[in-house]
Amino acid sequence: MPDFLDTKKLLPNLGIGLGLRRELASQTLENRSKIDWLELVPENYMGLGGASRERLESARDQFPLVTHGINLSIGSTDDLNTEYLSKLKKLLDFIDAPWFSDHLCFTSLDGIYMHDLLPLPRSKEAINLIAEKVKRVQGTIGRPFLLENISYYMNVPGSEMNDSQFLAEVAEKADCGLLLDVNNVYVNSLNHEFDPFQYLDQIPLERTVQIHVAGHKQGADYVIDTHGSAVVEPVFELLQYVLERVDAKGVMLERDQNFPAFEEILAEVDKIRQISQAADQVRQAGSAPRAHSAVKTFERDRKASTIGRKEMAEVKHARVLSA
Ligand SMILES: [Fe+2]
Repeated sequence: MPDFLDTKKLLPNLGIGLGLRRELASQTLENRSKIDWLELVPENYMGLGGASRERLESARDQFPLVTHGINLSIGSTDDLNTEYLSKLKKLLDFIDAPWFSDHLCFTSLDGIYMHDLLPLPRSKEAINLIAEKVKRVQGTIGRPFLLENISYYMNVPGSEMNDSQFLAEVAEKADCGLLLDVNNVYVNSLNHEFDPFQYLDQIPLERTVQIHVAGHKQGADYVIDTHGSAVVEPVFELLQYVLERVDAKGVMLERDQNFPAFEEILAEVDKIRQISQAADQVRQAGSAPRAHSAVKTFERDRKASTIGRKEMAEVKHARVLSA
């Protein structure tokens, strides 16, 4: 496969999309004129028949599709699961996905899958392991692969660098693309007290092919990446910041639980579209992109709710299982 940045130039511009979720599927499929493309969780469709297969076929007939997996477990010391890869390849061939993605994390150890996106020690050893596995994954699947920055709630012992350095080094060494989740950047910036714009400046943004936009829950101990609330303004600001600097090939809304009326989801999709169009104009005109916005909008409201560690675990599990 050629260098990833050359590959990226050949990828289609998908526009503004939405995650395909069972609970929203019928309304999603009825709104082709307002939603350009869909992302699906491959584990929900690999080798399955019945209602899942029918949903997949309806979606494929109407929309461009990409997958966003959970169980590749790219950071695990376990070897790649060849059976999983072969089922994933079959699905990607069936939907003719222009790219596919998974998370920069591990989800299994010693063959046991933990249904959670677990953070990695940010070490040179981990980078080498992941880069080698990413190259094998891209070689096996034969389509461009993107890694997503996850939300994390602890810094794993053994870490030798911060999250932006780790993401940057993995992407460069593996020569893969980025699925940049701007909500995860925002949530992490609050929980770990860093400047989210500086984070964006420190990663190879030009490798961004796809962007996730989502909502979160703000609590006393942590801000939790739930995908169960409306998107907040600072996350839209981060989206605009990125899109004024890079040509992403697809931006989408992730909504996985606590579903509102579908009109509210469509309104968020439309807002993402407006931001994307405004940013395109800035890039095409060659104007200077906006500088960092005021940091005060990123202060955490510790009184917002009383979510604690136990509830955080429940919310996170609900999200992964419903994805
Ligand atoms: Fe995401």
